[in-house]
Amino acid sequence: MLEEGFLIENQWEKIYFGQLEVVVVASFGVILSWKIRLVPVPKKVTVFQISKTLEQGATDVVHRWQIIAHKLPKDIFLRAMPMIVNGRRESTEKKVAVLFFCMFLGNTKKLMALMEKRFPELGLQIRDCNEMSWVNSTIFWAGFPVGTPIDVLLDRPKGTQVSFKSKSDYVKSVIPKKSLEKIWKKMIDLDIETWMQWNPYGGRMSEISESETPFTHRAGNLFKIQYFASWGDQGINVSNRNINMLRDLYASMTSYVSSGPREAFLNYRDLDIGSISSNHTSFKDAQVYGFKYFKGNFQRLVKVKGKVDPDNFFKNEQSIPPAKYQV
Ligand SMILES: *[C@@H]1O[C@H](CO)[C@@H](O)[C@H](O)[C@H]1NC(C)=O
Ligand SMILES: *[C@@H]1O[C@H](CO)[C@@H](O)[C@H](O)[C@H]1NC(C)=O
Repeated sequence: MLEEGFLIENQWEKIYFGQLEVVVVASFGVILSWKIRLVPVPKKVTVFQISKTLEQGATDVVHRWQIIAHKLPKDIFLRAMPMIVNGRRESTEKKVAVLFFCMFLGNTKKLMALMEKRFPELGLQIRDCNEMSWVNSTIFWAGFPVGTPIDVLLDRPKGTQVSFKSKSDYVKSVIPKKSLEKIWKKMIDLDIETWMQWNPYGGRMSEISESETPFTHRAGNLFKIQYFASWGDQGINVSNRNINMLRDLYASMTSYVSSGPREAFLNYRDLDIGSISSNHTSFKDAQVYGFKYFKGNFQRLVKVKGKVDPDNFFKNEQSIPPAKYQV
């Protein structure tokens, strides 16, 4: 079974990954072969990060972004990230800003021309653009300041442990400006520091049919949302409280996102969307999260699982049950 969708999430799949042949066992797999199909990447790529506050017109820009981002050519990826800024201390006013992160497979000049034509509302300036090798752009995506030596990737993470909660959604129609304003207000009202990642679909993602690989979220999606909140180790009560706040934010988004099912992205594991306890297997319960993660492909995964792991040796709270559990 050809399985690429678990690993990729946007039109860059052809750069990062070739073909991975795996057999689905739980929702992880046994790798039978791994064929890398390299494709050329230009010597220099261009990245930028731009922040827009609400006063700077973030709402209008994000509204426009929803309309154009998924239709941009395949050599550009432009993410929007609504997030809480300030408010770390009680004395500062909490605000929402939207950060735009971009990678373009080309130079600044071409990127400027493309943005002037397709997204002038963003107001991209030459000084925002950073040309670098593709490998150096991994530093940018990992959140380090431009110019950080690549050796930083060899550092092992240290320091205090961070707890976090993630959830996901798919957006299929443009969220109106009035509703965007409601979303910002909700983010401010919640007593957590949260961010969302809005990742455009379209491009290569729309060209692959929903049933070609287990990854089913294809044409028709404007973008995927990741909701995120993190906190330090402050005990179970603080964790529960913060998780509940993120759930509250998710609940407030219901009318803007996919429904029947409310689709979810497997890599942002979320037990809220359905789960089974890890020591038993219920097909009925598995169907709930299975349909959200895989839609029509769930049944096929159940059949594969039935062949390669009929006794369900590999299982977790959101694994694929083998066919024999289906009654
Ligand atoms: C890549 O980053 C290194 C620093 O780690 C820098 O010395 C080098 O000039 C960069 N190269 C390109 C092409 O961006
Ligand atoms: C958490 O909340 C419960 C119920 O309110 C309380 O009994 C318990 O002491 C709290 N635990 C901590 C570690 O604060």
